[in-house]
Amino acid sequence: MPITKRYKKIIIGNWKENPNTHEAAKHIVQGVKRAVVKLTKTVVVLCPPLIYLSDLGKGEQPFSRGAQDVSIFDSGSHTGEVSAQMLRDGGVEFCIVGHSERRKMGETDEMVSKKVGTLHQAGVTAVVCVGEEVRDPAGAYLDTLKNQIKNSLAGVEKKNTSLLVIAYEPVWAIGATVAMSPTDVHETGLFVKKTLADFFGHEYVAKVPVLYGGSVTFRNAGEIVRDGHVDGLLVGRESVNPQGFNEILRVVDSI
Ligand code: PGA
Repeated sequence: MPITKRYKKIIIGNWKENPNTHEAAKHIVQGVKRAVVKLTKTVVVLCPPLIYLSDLGKGEQPFSRGAQDVSIFDSGSHTGEVSAQMLRDGGVEFCIVGHSERRKMGETDEMVSKKVGTLHQAGVTAVVCVGEEVRDPAGAYLDTLKNQIKNSLAGVEKKNTSLLVIAYEPVWAIGATVAMSPTDVHETGLFVKKTLADFFGHEYVAKVPVLYGGSVTFRNAGEIVRDGHVDGLLVGRESVNPQGFNEILRVVDSI
């Protein structure tokens, strides 16, 4: 079933390369769990480093398990890689791909599209990150975005759009001090949806949630979701701070 049919909003916590110990990971999970169980309209996905997946707890949890990357290969001699099938077997339902921090390490649109393909084959929802490095006044960033979307999703079958989430993350707003304004989030979110519609057809677009990411805090989360009209948030730094993350969850769930 498409995620948007089941839930009103999605919040994904991207822990990145944090924290440094299992004990600290468990502390974050316990803290966040207290807030997640109270939510009625929001699905929460926690994406810890893979070594901490077991710290998310066994069996059914009030949140979904996520990963931050996946191999382009299904199996074989690829040191350091983890396949989509392995993730699925480990209970992972969502996987971030094409994050700008990975693109900086050499991940191309072509690799992103391969990763989306392997995730879909394994039945894992791909959270595809797109976003411009800079906003030029002439609007060339829109072409950048359009190309990123088309190339990163090349090969995605229409029937698999139910296993797709787009995270619009302007690179200049990631790890920054201020987020994008809700008005700009709204405008760019519409552009992303239009691009998806041109690519897959209108009837499939409504099923694809478009999230915003980049310097989200409990202070700006509400207005970004409400006035930016996005389907949720991809949260970085604040996702390993249970106090701040829980407040984001509470604010968004009340919208
Ligand atoms: P940030 O990161 O919330 O720390 O800006 C967002 C992200 O990189 O997904």
